[in-house]
Amino acid sequence: MKILGIETSCDETAASVIEVTGKNGIKVLSNIISSQVKLHAKYGGVVPSLAAREHVKNIGHVFNYALKQAGLLKFGFNRLDLIAVTRGPGLGPALLVGLTFAKTISWLHQKPIIGVNHLEGHIYSNWLSPVAEISKKDFPALNLIVSGGHTELVLMKDHGQYKIIGETMDDAAGEAFDKVARLLDLGYPGGPAVSARAEQFSISNFQFPIKFPRPMKKSKNFNFSYSGLKTAVLYKIRELKNDGIKLTVSIIDEIAYAFQEAAIDVLVQKTIRAAKEHNVESILLSGGVSANKLLRSELKKNATKMGIKYFQPPMEYTGDNAAMIAVAGYFTYLKNKKTDYKSVKIDANLAI
Ligand SMILES: Nc1ncnc2c1ncn2[C@@H]1O[C@H](COP(=O)(O)OP(=O)(O)OP(=O)(O)O)[C@@H](O)[C@H]1O
Ligand SMILES: [Mg+2]
Repeated sequence: MKILGIETSCDETAASVIEVTGKNGIKVLSNIISSQVKLHAKYGGVVPSLAAREHVKNIGHVFNYALKQAGLLKFGFNRLDLIAVTRGPGLGPALLVGLTFAKTISWLHQKPIIGVNHLEGHIYSNWLSPVAEISKKDFPALNLIVSGGHTELVLMKDHGQYKIIGETMDDAAGEAFDKVARLLDLGYPGGPAVSARAEQFSISNFQFPIKFPRPMKKSKNFNFSYSGLKTAVLYKIRELKNDGIKLTVSIIDEIAYAFQEAAIDVLVQKTIRAAKEHNVESILLSGGVSANKLLRSELKKNATKMGIKYFQPPMEYTGDNAAMIAVAGYFTYLKNKKTDYKSVKIDANLAI
């Protein structure tokens, strides 16, 4: 079965073709992503109307390239069995572009179409790992979804069965990385920049005793809060400046390091506590922040120590992509085969 995935929820125009053989044998035939990061960088964040305009400009090319790379261009649409498209959450104008494109193909070529929840897509990026196969016995699983817009702990009893047991009360973890990057003048998107600077820092370079708070680490629930941590970074920068200390490269590295330690510590400790309390078989990490090396290694170490299986998406599928949307579409299709283009609608605030 060949599935076309389309993703335009934010600032990536993406199309992918995957092939599912047997029950779960998933092969990515193509995975094309056109990023608008450079365009939005000068605004310090994604501008919805600009994003939509770029999606309109790019989607045809991205789609053609995805078919070509999958070896399907000369066969047209005959060899495609299903279309999976992100329907939310995300930026309304951006989502509309992908959905309209996908619905048009579905209508024109009489192909079934599935509207996919973007967060479910992130969860299913774990099924794209060539080295770790997730099976029924790995349920119930606990998902830690950490991205630019979300920080959620989601209990997954089976395919398509979700319960949110914790979420951020304010900023998402990725958003905090982006805001701290802005405070440190490291550009956008901030996550990769902050973590690269944090890696530069070694304890031996320690100049000032910088330690940031771990908001809600000890709270009884499984919620998170990241806006206070970002403010703590802001106050530290002000304090250093007021003391006449220049923000040298090594001090920036140290602030990035201390921030990353705090941000990741809370994520890891709360996830492990939730996993124990809910007696899960496995932990699945996903979302853009799952590219963070410290998060990957600490979560793996702590889960393994507790005897809980741990899965993470391959690096290339941590950010927004359409292969993960195609996989999520496949598992949704197994449960709900009745799909026609009229019933698929966008929902910018769709919850999992
Ligand atoms: N190495 C990293 N360390 C920390 N954060 C990172 C890293 N790489 C990327 N990020 C963060 O991941 C986020 C982007 O993730 P993603 O593309 O999934 O978000 P989104 O799609 O905009 O939001 P959502 O998935 O919630 O709708 C950004 O905030 C970025 O800074
Ligand atoms: Mg995302």
